[in-house]
Amino acid sequence: MTEQTPLDGKKIVLGVTGSIAAYKAADLVRLLIKEGAEVKVVMTQAASEFITPLTMQTLSGSPVAMTLLDADEESTMGHIQLARWADWVLIAPASANTLAGLAHGRTEDLLTALCLATTAPIAVAPAMNNKMWSNEATQNNLATIADRGVLVLGPATGEQACGEHGEGRLLEPEQLITELLHLILPTKLSGKRVVVTAGPTHEPIDPVRFIGNRSSGKMGFAIATAAAQAGAEVILITGPVALATPPEVQRVDVETAQQMFEAIEKIEQIDIFIGCAAVADYRPEQYSESKLKKAVETQRAIQVTENKDIIAAVAQRQVKPFIVGFAAETDDIINYAKDKMERKQLDMIAANLVGKGLGFGVDTNTLYVFWQQGEALLPLALKSHLARDLMRLIIDRYDAKNSA
Ligand code: PMT
Repeated sequence: MTEQTPLDGKKIVLGVTGSIAAYKAADLVRLLIKEGAEVKVVMTQAASEFITPLTMQTLSGSPVAMTLLDADEESTMGHIQLARWADWVLIAPASANTLAGLAHGRTEDLLTALCLATTAPIAVAPAMNNKMWSNEATQNNLATIADRGVLVLGPATGEQACGEHGEGRLLEPEQLITELLHLILPTKLSGKRVVVTAGPTHEPIDPVRFIGNRSSGKMGFAIATAAAQAGAEVILITGPVALATPPEVQRVDVETAQQMFEAIEKIEQIDIFIGCAAVADYRPEQYSESKLKKAVETQRAIQVTENKDIIAAVAQRQVKPFIVGFAAETDDIINYAKDKMERKQLDMIAANLVGKGLGFGVDTNTLYVFWQQGEALLPLALKSHLARDLMRLIIDRYDAKNSA
């Protein structure tokens, strides 16, 4: 029996836009289906000038959707249904016009509208003349969508249909498949419960003040998203953050370390626990019901008492989950991380440098991952990318532990 690939059973909306490279989309559909994916094609009007919807329909085995306001199409697979149906949206080739539409949240055609409506990850494979590609407007649009987590595949450099040579060619269909296989997580965690903690904790001093930290929750939310994409049932316990709940994730909001501890205590069975929250180690010993007065009370030292170590408590469970901790360090990252892994009895630890512009709050990160018999460096990348790479390592180590 052949081993399942990450594309096996995945529902892919393939967006095809107006580019001479649109003909390569035919081969792409064939290869996606060969990998086990189910494909629905959405074409822009301009794309249909380069390749016929009939070709794409025949190859994909599904009607091609093109128009946003077509009564028949809307009743069968309108943009909302397609947006919900998709596990992934891949736009190949993606024209400069479509990239601009995505960057500005336009909904002038079915494809851009469904991209706005979907919670599925979106990947684009740009194809255009090299001058259009390097134009500041295109590059700005690209930076905008990449910041929102859209993945950009290619483009390649070489001879162009316009007779020029340069960057802007669509990646070959085989290369696109290779890149997708690397990006898409296999649904190996289906039937497993993953609990992720994220964000800071706020330890109240009085009704208006608290002890907190700079965690935004971005790393933990990205990990919860990746775990859901890997098919797990995900419970995300988060401190106060300003982030939307990822799709297919059950969210529990807490404020303090004690509340986070209690929320986790209520979860009976956990297969994988990932402690990404920046939990305050201490809380004020006393909470003042009325606001402390600046002149007198706030000048006195705030007495603190130690919070429970949540991740260490999870490690003491009778049925111990696979436990991944994080270590936020400003120096000597490797030694501190390894020490935390041993002390807290973790299966794996992901360490990150924190400080000005590092780790906390920002969209990117670098992770140094350690486990008993190995280590990996996940270099600087968007937190969404890192979360997927970390999830792959977790799945590998989890499998290895359970088959040992
Ligand atoms: O949220 P972002 O802005 O995206 O930033 C991400 C991050 C920098 C917060 C994240 O990547 C990170 O490093 N999280 C862990 C921060 C932290 O508290 O590290 P620590 O070294 O103090 O704690 C070590 C481990 O013990 C962590 O898994 C932590 O969740 C856990 N812990 C700590 C204290 C405590 N009382 N209970 C715990 O469970």
